[in-house]
Amino acid sequence: MAGKVFFSVSMSLDGFIVPESMEWLVATPEQRAQDPRLERSMAQWMQLQAWAFPQRFFRENLKLGEGGEEGRDNDIARETFERTGASVMGKRMFDVGEPAWPEEAPFHTPVFVVTHEKRDPWERPGGTTFHFVNDGIQTALDQAREAAGDRDVRVAGGGATILEYVNAGLIDEFSIALSPVLFGSGIRLFEGVDAGRVALEPVRAEPTQRVTHLTYAVRER
Ligand SMILES: NC(=O)c1ccc[n+]([C@@H]2O[C@H](COP(=O)([O-])OP(=O)(O)OC[C@H]3O[C@@H](n4cnc5c(N)ncnc54)[C@H](OP(=O)(O)O)[C@@H]3O)[C@@H](O)[C@H]2O)c1
Repeated sequence: MAGKVFFSVSMSLDGFIVPESMEWLVATPEQRAQDPRLERSMAQWMQLQAWAFPQRFFRENLKLGEGGEEGRDNDIARETFERTGASVMGKRMFDVGEPAWPEEAPFHTPVFVVTHEKRDPWERPGGTTFHFVNDGIQTALDQAREAAGDRDVRVAGGGATILEYVNAGLIDEFSIALSPVLFGSGIRLFEGVDAGRVALEPVRAEPTQRVTHLTYAVRER
């Protein structure tokens, strides 16, 4: 039986999944100190992901160190990983991750990057191979489904790519970790959504001490 197509992201309470800039990731401490926009964006990203960083699973998978919390947030992070047989992502998410992920990239399954750039597959130790797909989101999804077998396909991000899949009616379900932070600007998850087409059905709402996990099934209107 084919699995579901889903996405799972952390979102600020005012609807953003990316702050104004992600340049802080490659900036030096001096550059950040001179540019309040970089400092602010870094602080916002840390607050957005504050629920995930302390979790044992997240720390193990991103090679951030031993130990960590083992409550419901940790279970949800692990369950999201375990249900995923393959991922699809946009090129900008890949570009942000390429210098930041550990050598053993945290997917451990095939990843299909939708892009205009032609590039040979990039195989990492630990089971992640990035395949670069140049003929659109449907082809990337077909390849991901094939690779995932019975497991689910995760549209990992970022905002532009998730929106393409939502508007094409290709998402079955999504989860949002709603973080207690306001961004004011950045990339909004649902900016440009074809709202007349998408109907949502609540599946689950789970508050923890750090964040609120919301899951919806997507139906056609
Ligand atoms: N908050 C969260 O939980 C979360 C989760 C995941 C990601 N993110 C963040 O999301 C950000 C990236 O999101 P984004 O919205 O800026 O970009 P994105 O969706 O990652 O990538 C968009 C790019 O992918 C390529 N692309 C997308 N659709 C295509 C198509 N149909 N055909 C060919 N190429 C296509 C294009 O790049 P080219 O033309 O260059 O090929 C396009 O500019 C990152 O900063 C990442 O950290 C946040």
